[in-house]
Amino acid sequence: MENGVIIGEFFLRWLHYIFGIMWIGHLYYFNFSQTPFMAEADAATKSGVQQKLFPRTLFWFRWGAMFTFLTGWFLIFHKMFALQIPIESEWSVKILTGGIIGTLMFLNVWLIIWPNQKVVIENATQVAQGKPAIAGVADLAARAAIASRTNTLYSLPMLFFMGAASRLPLAINPEKSVSTYWVAFSILVGAIQWNAMKGKMGVMAKIGQTVHFGILLSFALYGLMWFLLR
Ligand code: HEM
Repeated sequence: MENGVIIGEFFLRWLHYIFGIMWIGHLYYFNFSQTPFMAEADAATKSGVQQKLFPRTLFWFRWGAMFTFLTGWFLIFHKMFALQIPIESEWSVKILTGGIIGTLMFLNVWLIIWPNQKVVIENATQVAQGKPAIAGVADLAARAAIASRTNTLYSLPMLFFMGAASRLPLAINPEKSVSTYWVAFSILVGAIQWNAMKGKMGVMAKIGQTVHFGILLSFALYGLMWFLLR
């Protein structure tokens, strides 16, 4: 590989890590610290946080997600097309597992969490000005919370496969079809994503259980690769 390409890819990765930390750092702050704080805060404190802190944290959170997503897919396309890594290679199976879960997380941020939280911020501002509350705001906040917990759950397998792509060998059998794995992946992750969009908080109500579920999902997906592709 040419020196310029190596240096270019290195700087892209550096940006990818920085934006990834900015995004997932805020995600963990929301789920580990802010949610329990808000549950016991009095009404005035809660309103102040929603009006003054939410716009700031959600700004870095959603733009961190955007640039992690863009740098991540750029890295994937660079490796697959410029370096000609085939889609059925073990690297592709692992990085696409992490990248697709990361993409679902990105979509949950931009299509559920941010639009719904924007209404929560507007509602807090209006109520503080003595105007009536926005109808349905509690349901929007609850859906954002389920999507945010789902992203915390997803973050474990997402980072597992991000790190595993080049560093945890799998040695898949070239005779086996990778599509069997992708069908199993779609059913499992599709069910979790459907729940994020339409379902309930369920076991994710407790943060500890969310982390355990995330560890289980990481091993379940790696186990599927192991049994279906080796
Ligand atoms: C849309 C989501 C994402 C996509 C498409 C994506 C894609 C990628 C790609 C292609 C690589 C290079 C892997 C390799 O060369 O083997 C990578 C590496 C990495 N990504 Fe992501 N990524 C995403 C989200 C994230 C997030 C949210 C984080 C959180 C911090 C993250 C952290 C990392 C780390 C630490 C590496 C280095 C792995 C290594 O060098 O072994 N990524 N990512």
